Amino acid sequence: MTSRHPLRIAPSILSADFARLGEQVDQIAQAGGDWIHIDVMDGHFVPNITFGPQIVKAIRPVTDTFFDVHLMIAPVDPYLEAFAEAGADLISIHVEAGPHAHRSLQAIRALGRKTGIALNPGTPVEAVAPLLDMVDLVLLMTVNPGFGGQAFIESVCSKVAAVKAMIGDRPIEIEVDGGVTPQTAPLVAAAGANVLVAGSAAFKGGPEAYAGNISAIRDAAQAVRD
Ligand code: DX5
Ligand code: ZN
Repeated sequence: MTSRHPLRIAPSILSADFARLGEQVDQIAQAGGDWIHIDVMDGHFVPNITFGPQIVKAIRPVTDTFFDVHLMIAPVDPYLEAFAEAGADLISIHVEAGPHAHRSLQAIRALGRKTGIALNPGTPVEAVAPLLDMVDLVLLMTVNPGFGGQAFIESVCSKVAAVKAMIGDRPIEIEVDGGVTPQTAPLVAAAGANVLVAGSAAFKGGPEAYAGNISAIRDAAQAVRD
């Protein structure tokens, strides 16, 4: 299939060694990570807690690589400015996180950052239809958010294809997140996703393995494009 958007592999630092986070961000970027995917969890919207804007700010000087910040928090509005100032290039919010997703997306754009709207596996794709003119990216979760290392939910592939059809000619990228490996990457790439988040599959085996891990995912996805 053809896609006008480049294939991007976005390693999720949720699977990094937090005791050496800065070093690992640098290593995963040098190993070929196109974007750095940053999972922010609040123990409320999802049943796990990770980190806040101070950590994003702390790792910002380590690399010029694009920071793809995935907010799994509710509410989101009180924290958008802090994440923008910390160095997020794109901020994704969940459509399930509150009643005013459109307002939150307006706020992110007003802060000069790119916008993403994320959907849990159980959320119908129609939920993003009214928001498409407000987003640069649609993020389809291929696991229930909260933890790395979960099994890929294959039924989301039909949602990827449906979102791609809804997007039409708009310059919106499609990202998938959860359970992406060299085995599952072709399924989502064939359905139309161009940004593939990978946590455990990117970071497994330590820094010497990062470049091989990323290429294995990239090659498997690339094989079903063009
Ligand atoms: C899950 C996070 C993911 C996670 C993916 O809530 O949003 O980004 O890190 O991890 P893997 O690739 O291990 O499923
Ligand atoms: Zn994520």
